[in-house]
Amino acid sequence: MTKIAVWCRHEHDCIIGIGPNIPWNIPSDLKRFRRITSHADIVCGQTTYESFPNRTLPNRQIYVLTFNTGYEVSDKDNHFVINDMMQLQNFPRNLYIAGGASIYKAFMRQMPPEVIVDSCNHNEISGTYSGNPVDIKECIDIMMQDYEQVSPEYNEDNVTTTLWVRKGALVNDDVLRYLTLAITEEK
Ligand SMILES: NC(=O)c1ccc[n+]([C@@H]2O[C@H](COP(=O)([O-])OP(=O)(O)OC[C@H]3O[C@@H](n4cnc5c(N)ncnc54)[C@H](OP(=O)(O)O)[C@@H]3O)[C@@H](O)[C@H]2O)c1
Repeated sequence: MTKIAVWCRHEHDCIIGIGPNIPWNIPSDLKRFRRITSHADIVCGQTTYESFPNRTLPNRQIYVLTFNTGYEVSDKDNHFVINDMMQLQNFPRNLYIAGGASIYKAFMRQMPPEVIVDSCNHNEISGTYSGNPVDIKECIDIMMQDYEQVSPEYNEDNVTTTLWVRKGALVNDDVLRYLTLAITEEK
């Protein structure tokens, strides 16, 4: 399997959320995320899962990380509770890491993804959101040190997306081709 982290961070401060929300609404970024993860297996934290409309994302299998052994998902056929992330160590298919911050950090530290789809939002954060800013500075530091950028920059709506591969990791060309298409396709 290939583990692929997919995030969109705000430039300079690396904020990815405020409280439970992503503090921007950039339809092209959302579409890119949907294209990349369509019909795929994704892992996310309980907070991020709760923020999905109706606690679901259609056409995906969702692995929800929570320490709560009694946690109930909204769709028992397609969503699965994971209490120990090491259970995903020998996952048989590609696995998309979809946040939030605690999950990106846990994977970067303990089970680093081979590939990162790094989107950097250059727009101002505007609007009112309640809660504390959530950032992934630590993940970006690790990315800069342990990964190399393998794609050009793709710009859309003032968001720059690049592909990074962990140094020394062998990544199947098909995965990189698939991601490149999913990033550059416009619909
Ligand atoms: N911009 C982006 O690309 C992007 C993407 C996704 C999310 N976000 C944002 O990120 C923010 C949420 O991040 P967050 O860090 O607060 O929450 P989160 O990572 O979505 O979820 C945190 C929860 O996950 C569970 N968890 C964390 N680590 C675990 C582990 N090692 N094993 C088992 N369970 C674990 C815990 O659930 P329990 O408390 O139930 O035990 C924890 O409270 C929101 O603002 C969201 O909008 C941004």
